[in-house]
Parts: sequence; structure tokens; C-alpha cells
Amino acid sequence: MRIVLLGPPGAGKGTQAQIIAGELGVPAISTGDIFRANVSGQTELGLEAKVYMDAGDLVPDEITVAMVKDRLAEPDAKAGFLLDGFPRTIAQAEQLRGSLDELGHHLDRVVELVVEEEELVRRLSGRRMLVGGEWVQRDDDRPETVRHRLEVYREQTAPLSGFYDGEGLLSRIDAIGTVEEVTARVLTALGQPGRSDHS
Ligand code: AP5
Repeated sequence: MRIVLLGPPGAGKGTQAQIIAGELGVPAISTGDIFRANVSGQTELGLEAKVYMDAGDLVPDEITVAMVKDRLAEPDAKAGFLLDGFPRTIAQAEQLRGSLDELGHHLDRVVELVVEEEELVRRLSGRRMLVGGEWVQRDDDRPETVRHRLEVYREQTAPLSGFYDGEGLLSRIDAIGTVEEVTARVLTALGQPGRSDHS
């Protein structure tokens, strides 16, 4: 299956992507994780992306699209994938469609995780990551940056909901509840309800 997980910062895309991809046996491809790995490795791409990420802005489309194209060309993504955090603009969605068309492929489903803003802010301000044995806050999870990321989402990414709905690909699901409950809803939207014992 070729799937996109859509949703605002803190909606649970990364959490669900790992579980769902594991269930379906496809790689979970997170543009945020690829950028963060490049930032940690201090690569040229990472140094460029860091400026945008720290500000809570999107990394420019041309950089992001080229990176995803390279990742999708890897052998493990040939038979299917789950994209987390890409596309994030209409231009990225159009380029993804073009790239898949060239390969004779298409997206099977786009699942949008719906969570109200107050809960997103609560989740992100409480998130900590284990780095070098210490729990640290992600640079872009500071309250003022979270607010800006949510604005960027509303302006640049939310229109993708209508874009994919128009293509008949969109399932919007309530992403409030336990992780297991949300997983069950995502799997049902993907036509795979039997894969989860939870409800
Ligand atoms: P990215 O890493 O994609 O960040 P994001 O979209 O802002 O998403 P988050 O990782 O903050 O949240 P999530 O939805 O994955 O939720 P999570 O599962 O972690 O992108 C970071 C930056 O990279 C961007 O700002 C941009 O600069 C750049 N970038 C990335 N992709 C790009 C692109 N395509 N184009 C341009 N730039 C790009 O969960 C959040 C928290 O909630 C966790 O603590 C989790 O434990 C908790 N949680 C999860 N599920 C539940 C639940 N059901 N109930 C309660 N808590 C829950």
C-alpha cells in the first residue's frame, strides 16, 4: 500500500506511522526524522534545513521533494510506503503525484488525523525526547514555535485535505483517544480492521 498520513503538529503522525507501517510491512518515511538525522549529522542538507525547522517554518519544497524522491527510489519503498509529514504543500502533493505517475503507481489512501488545537499544544509542550541518555525538549516544541507551526499548518498544509478529498483518497479520523484506539481507526480507514485487536 502507498499511504500518506496527514495532520497537524502533534496529531500523532509519527506515533501511528511506526505502528501502522509495522502492521502493513511497509517502511514509514518521515521527512521530519530524515531532516533531524541530517541536522544531528551536520550534513549540508541538515545545516540548511535547521534554519527553517528551528523557526517552525517549512523547508523549501525543492529541497524536500528531491530528498523524498531519493528515499522513494530505495528498494524497500518499491512495493509500498507510509509517508509521515510529506506532502505538506499543494506543490509537494503535485510533485508526489507526478513522481508516482512516472513509476505507474498511485496513492491508495490519505488518512488525516484530526485533533483540536488545545490538545495539540498540550501534547507538544509535554513531549520530551531521549538524546544521549537525557530527556530533552525538541527545539521546535517551545510554545512560541509551536504556535507558529500550527499557523504554518493552517495556511500551507490544511488545504491538502480538500486536495485529496477531491481525488477521492481522503479519510478523516478522530485522533483523540488512546494510541491503540486511534490505530484501530486508522486501520479501519485503510480497509484493514482485522489487523488490530483494539477498538
Ligand atoms: P515533523 O517532524 O514532521 O513535525 P510535525 O509535523 O510538526 O509533527 P510532530 O513530530 O511534532 O508531531 P506528530 O504528528 O508526528 O505527533 P507525534 O506522534 O510525535 O517536522 C518537523 C519540521 O521539519 C517541520 O516543522 C519542517 O520544518 C520540517 N519538515 C518536515 N517535513 C517537511 C515537509 N514535507 N516540507 C517542508 N518541511 C518539512 O505525537 C506528539 C506527542 O503526542 C508525543 O509526545 C506523543 O507521545 C503524543 N501522542 C501521540 N498520540 C497520542 C494520543 N493518541 N493521545 C495522547 N498523546 C499522544
